[in-house]
Amino acid sequence: MTSPPPFLAQHLPLDKATASRPHITVTWAQSLDSKIAGVGGKRVILSGSESMLMTHWMRTMHDAIMIGINTLILDDPRLQINLLPASPNLRPPQPLILDPHLRFPPSARLLTEYLTKPSQRSISLHQPWIICSDQVSHFKIRALEGSGARIIPVKVDESGRIPPSSLPTVLGELGLRSVMIEGGSKVLSQFLSCKDKREDGSPLVDSVVVTVAPTFIGDGVGVVPEGEDKGLPPLRTLHTETMGKDAVMVCAIDI
Ligand SMILES: NC(=O)c1ccc[n+]([C@@H]2O[C@H](COP(=O)([O-])OP(=O)(O)OC[C@H]3O[C@@H](n4cnc5c(N)ncnc54)[C@H](OP(=O)(O)O)[C@@H]3O)[C@@H](O)[C@H]2O)c1
Repeated sequence: MTSPPPFLAQHLPLDKATASRPHITVTWAQSLDSKIAGVGGKRVILSGSESMLMTHWMRTMHDAIMIGINTLILDDPRLQINLLPASPNLRPPQPLILDPHLRFPPSARLLTEYLTKPSQRSISLHQPWIICSDQVSHFKIRALEGSGARIIPVKVDESGRIPPSSLPTVLGELGLRSVMIEGGSKVLSQFLSCKDKREDGSPLVDSVVVTVAPTFIGDGVGVVPEGEDKGLPPLRTLHTETMGKDAVMVCAIDI
């Protein structure tokens, strides 16, 4: 595959995205029993080589990629596009970490690899941007900024959460036209179940892309945390593609 799979361009209207109306894609890989990780959050490779490659193409199509802090701590992901052919026209998306209390460890690969001298890296990397609560102490912010990350304090609600509905404004202020939310479970469920609409009446989440792997995990982390499966919206399937052993579904929220 030397270019993005055509169904992605066809069903993700990313060319229409602007900073004033950013596109939000929610995406994950799951087992047949709806698990995204093993017991205690143990990382499980679910995607086969074809769907993993598709995910890397999808990353290049978005300005940013967002994960929750638990995923960063448990998986230490690189959020890279290293499966794609090297090209100056292909850049990885801007990493955004949802981390209200600034638990981000400075030893995270996202940061240490970014700080590696450009001449020692084969690809250009972005500085990790961490979205935290505006209630976090300046001391904590300065310490993590000193480690090399960019910290973006944003308003939180009474439960200390960053309301999912504020993401389009946050993205717009950062000049980002699109984001791909890659997990984990708490982040996925909050964005999927957000009932607040955009100013134009559309749902907060524009696209849902799910890779289903033909495997069972048993005990583990569900797509949605147990007990939080209320209020999930109905989805409309726009396209299903077989990619190697996996099925990839592109859906929209049906309102
Ligand atoms: N298969 C896949 O596609 C896939 C992809 C990614 C991750 N995963 C798996 O998912 C698991 C982690 O999932 P998880 O549910 O434990 O964690 P998570 O969703 O990665 O992170 C949750 C944490 O992020 C912060 N957060 C989330 N929503 C927030 C909001 N609205 N405002 C402020 N902070 C918010 C909170 O941090 P605080 O606790 O500090 O408040 C929360 O505890 C890992 O096992 C990983 O392997 C699987």
